[in-house]
Amino acid sequence: MRVISTVSEFQSALDHARLSKTVGLVPTMGYLHEGHGSLIQRANSENDFVAVTVFVNPLQFGVNEDFSTYPRDLDRDVELAKHSGADIVFAPTINEMYPNYPEALPTKVSVSKLSEVLDGKSRPGHFDGVATVVAKLFAMAGKVSAYFGEKDFQQLAIIRQLASDLSFPVKVIGCKTIREADGLAASSRNVRLTQDNRRAALVLYKALQLGKELVESGENNSITVTRAMESLIKGEVRAELDYATCVDPKTLLVPDVIRNDVQLLVAAKFSDVRLIDNLKANFPEPINRAGGGVQNNDVVKADSLRLERG
Ligand code: PAJ
Repeated sequence: MRVISTVSEFQSALDHARLSKTVGLVPTMGYLHEGHGSLIQRANSENDFVAVTVFVNPLQFGVNEDFSTYPRDLDRDVELAKHSGADIVFAPTINEMYPNYPEALPTKVSVSKLSEVLDGKSRPGHFDGVATVVAKLFAMAGKVSAYFGEKDFQQLAIIRQLASDLSFPVKVIGCKTIREADGLAASSRNVRLTQDNRRAALVLYKALQLGKELVESGENNSITVTRAMESLIKGEVRAELDYATCVDPKTLLVPDVIRNDVQLLVAAKFSDVRLIDNLKANFPEPINRAGGGVQNNDVVKADSLRLERG
């Protein structure tokens, strides 16, 4: 497996691979764990050639965020990438990616609406940084299938929008969240949790499970679901709640009344470690009390009745 650090080598390695192979791309910020490993394995099972990128992107960190303390270990990453099935690791320096760094990059990619809610509210500029670096990686990579985790649900939605809006020849593939044995979502930041905070952090998954149970048992008031998740997290003294919410999985907006499947999302800080997680909740099909399930036609009829009545 090759480790390369320049943009031109990366471009020519992928151009060369594409002559006879399909190419999978797995962008990361390194300090790889099983979550990243699962993306690389999936890319490996669906493509002939897999490129993993390792770059801690300064553009997506706010001034008071953890850019300087973000864990880094390239040698370990190269081993994990190799064992998971990568063919090359592209690990550029900051100056290779941004030659005038720390001067601001004049060009910025920004995905409106989807970037303005949830983490976008709490971390101003974060998703512009993500969108800009991902657009750069897509531009370098060319025609590939690119693998991203559902763990970063909002990021995945933004990247899908970006790839479509800017016509990148990239197929964006979402991959399921990998969790540690007790349910905590795998994250590079988990190593920075103290033992007590590691134990406390499990409250995020518990809150998501509680929200899921409520929605799946028919609770259709999004405020009730949100409040239940919030109060569970607030009950953990070590957690500093940012948000707990339930949104439409496409628009990321909160529905007043839940009528379809929703995505539950949570974010909280444990000392200086900010964690996020999410879970899908399936809203149950309406049950026709008179016997059996409601037919599709019944729904159509109800809708057209409403239309007729104006
Ligand atoms: P990073 O946090 O290193 O994550 C790289 C990829 O791994 C992302 O697509 C993320 O969703 C996925 N991932 C992380 N934890 C996961 C888990 N527990 N299960 C499944 N997938 C998981 O996300 C980034 O880097 C950056 O923002 C990046 C897209 C590389 C742009 O800089």
